[in-house]
Amino acid sequence: MKRILVIHGPNLDLLGKRETNVYGKTSLSEINSLLKGLAKKNKVSLEIVQSNHEGEIVDRIGQAPREKFAGILINPAAYTHTSVAIRDAVAAVNLPTVEVHLSNIYAREEFRHHSLISPVCSGQVSGFGIHSYLLGLEALISLLKK
Ligand code: DQA
Repeated sequence: MKRILVIHGPNLDLLGKRETNVYGKTSLSEINSLLKGLAKKNKVSLEIVQSNHEGEIVDRIGQAPREKFAGILINPAAYTHTSVAIRDAVAAVNLPTVEVHLSNIYAREEFRHHSLISPVCSGQVSGFGIHSYLLGLEALISLLKK
């Protein structure tokens, strides 16, 4: 069974309580349950991590090939706009990677319009709330079936 690493970046542990007008009322654990349901239906397995620490996210991405992950689904959150280190890690491992965002980052403040991560990803899904995660996972699974 193919293994997918799901990474939630900083502050996503606060989903459901944090800026609910922007990010909605669904908690991270509810999103994770939905992702697991979709994974089960598609016969892939997920390992899900949330971290507020850039270095830890870099470590997890770098270890992914050794840990036999076939692909990565990532919401880098605020690090999307700042992290050369996460971008370099994604480029280094060369695994199919899909970037997701709950909000439409292009419709928000100027500083969110640029993603350092998307040029090294297979694609990006942004603006569909929790569906961004589900659409992103479906896209990743279809890439892995190719
Ligand atoms: C986010 C968008 C980022 O700009 C922000 O820093 C987040 C969440 C999203 O899912 O919409 O923390 O990645």
